[in-house]
Amino acid sequence: MSEAATPRVLVAYFSHAGENWVSGGVRYIEVGNTKRLAETIANKLESRGHRVDRYEIKASDPYSVKYEETTKRAEAETDADARPGIVLPVPDASKYDVLFLGYPMWCGKMPRVVMTFLETVKFGAIAVWPFTTHEGGGINQSEREVLKAAPEADVKPGFAMIGSNVEHPGEPLEHWLNAFDAGSREDR
Ligand SMILES: Cc1cc2nc3c(=O)[nH]c(=O)nc-3n(C[C@H](O)[C@H](O)[C@H](O)COP(=O)(O)O)c2cc1C
Repeated sequence: MSEAATPRVLVAYFSHAGENWVSGGVRYIEVGNTKRLAETIANKLESRGHRVDRYEIKASDPYSVKYEETTKRAEAETDADARPGIVLPVPDASKYDVLFLGYPMWCGKMPRVVMTFLETVKFGAIAVWPFTTHEGGGINQSEREVLKAAPEADVKPGFAMIGSNVEHPGEPLEHWLNAFDAGSREDR
């Protein structure tokens, strides 16, 4: 595979370390589930020969490590369809052909900071592969929201997994990455 023909991939994600909802109760986690899944995805893409950059989306006013506080803030931001500020600078969209976009499910949607990120970067006509970690709600059509913030994007079917399972993503993740690989070969 020549370097020029290899799509340039950005794996961008938002993830919340600290107290989280895991298997029916509040538990402290040192590294967020989506961050761990994002790193697995980035590593697997690299081992498949892709050129990958990683980027963590961070709120300029960080979310509390406390579950209750974060839930209250997330509910208020979701209800208001807010656009919380993010840490700058953001990546240069012109450097990438493909965006893998990771986020936890919050209140049945993607966290509003992810919408801020998409609207700030202005990716244009990029292929977007959304992935999420959740505790039962699934990806819940959040892929469609990508189009609100990035109307020219070619949004692909997303990948969802229960947060506590991220250590063992197994065959479902391989299938999803195979679909990406198959598509990127057709594009060449
Ligand atoms: C504020 C908040 C809201 C959440 N809302 C949902 C939800 O609507 N549906 C769901 O399945 N899980 C929900 N969860 C659980 C998270 O999606 C799940 O724990 C995820 O793996 C967290 O990923 P992270 O560690 O990368 O932040 C919520 C968690 C938090 C902190």
